[in-house]
Amino acid sequence: MSQAPGRKPRVVLGVGGGIAAYKACEVLRGLTESGHDVRVVPTDAALNFVGAATFEALSGHPVHTGVFSDVPSVQHVRIGHEADLVLVVPATADLLARAAHGRADDLLTGTLLMARCPVAFFPAMHTEMWQHPATRDNVALLRSRGLVVTEPDSGRLTGVDSGPGRLADPREIVDLAKLLLAAPDALPRDLEGLRVVVSAGGTREPLDPVRYLGNRSSGKQGYALARVAAQRGADVTLVAAHTVDLPGPAGATVRHVSTAEQLAEAVRAEAERADVVVMAAAVADFRPASRAEHKIKKTDDGGAPTVDLVRNPDILAGLVENRRPDQIVVGFAAETGDAGGDVLHHARAKLKRKGADLLVVNAVGEGKAFEVEDNSGWLLGADGTEVPIPFGAKAQLAAAVWDAVASLRKTQGG
Ligand code: CTP
Repeated sequence: MSQAPGRKPRVVLGVGGGIAAYKACEVLRGLTESGHDVRVVPTDAALNFVGAATFEALSGHPVHTGVFSDVPSVQHVRIGHEADLVLVVPATADLLARAAHGRADDLLTGTLLMARCPVAFFPAMHTEMWQHPATRDNVALLRSRGLVVTEPDSGRLTGVDSGPGRLADPREIVDLAKLLLAAPDALPRDLEGLRVVVSAGGTREPLDPVRYLGNRSSGKQGYALARVAAQRGADVTLVAAHTVDLPGPAGATVRHVSTAEQLAEAVRAEAERADVVVMAAAVADFRPASRAEHKIKKTDDGGAPTVDLVRNPDILAGLVENRRPDQIVVGFAAETGDAGGDVLHHARAKLKRKGADLLVVNAVGEGKAFEVEDNSGWLLGADGTEVPIPFGAKAQLAAAVWDAVASLRKTQGG
């Protein structure tokens, strides 16, 4: 159903009967606070974990679980028809099975059969259940019909066990929901079998045990790239320098580093087995020539120390130099125009200089790109293509980058 301009996007939040149901409340809150009209449709089992009153209070709508409540309004038809997006949080093994096989034995599964908008399942279950052939088949079946079944997170589960099967962080779910509302085709499973390395965040170059030279990178763009790649089926390693507080992308392996040299070492090691490397990190070009062993103290003469800087390695240039013929290297350019030329002029020169296959160009300064939620820019290809990326969420820019990578792989016959 197409969304009339000016009205709030309508999201159906299906809630399955698992302990992670309580996290659906955070998703609900995140969506309503960002201007979405959310209708919660729990299963009967979900109400063992969270009461209907909680969902009703947070959504501002009545909550029903069966098709026999409010019969005259034929709820599953109305809710399914009116939705712009259906999310299932958490998607239990049972719910995935019922959805895959077209069951319609409660309001949620009936609604899923009625919906013609994007549908995304966010699984949560014990690792054995997630990895069971029955669940694997159900997930494959749902994905083959174009529905999104996301990768769960890995970590502590309900009991003493830990492994894949943890519900993705609610902030990540809200982020992906917004992506699907803006770009319904943003999460195809087109990166399966690809090994991807993404760097993110800003490096810190220590001056002494308490001080460092750093930058304002939030890491949000790199995390969005890793998040979207993992949900498109890639095997993702995220090499993360310093960022604001961000949820680790579900389905990705995260390696934390601090300095440019550590980032260089980690990215080089991971790149050896990668098909695609994306350098979204804000790497310090210089570092203090030496790091004081003890905190640098003020002196009585009122003077100030001088800091000598040395150059850090250009990681992107090194990756390009050592890349395999079938490896794709993507760089970022944060540019401001100046008397020498506009943003694109500098970006074209940088793409040539760096020799990457793709360069994502962000216009920076005046509140653009750093520490903000939205980004715009251009995607420049080594083949001369220049695609503008409209202003939108960082996940949307990430999806555009992966679209470009996927089409590059196709032209390479990959
Ligand atoms: N980069 C890198 N190693 C560095 C510096 C930057 O790998 N030591 C990467 C960044 O991750 C980004 C790209 O190079 O993908 C461009 O970074 P940017 O800071 O915009 O460009 P610089 O190379 O620093 O060029 P300039 O200072 O001329 O803008």
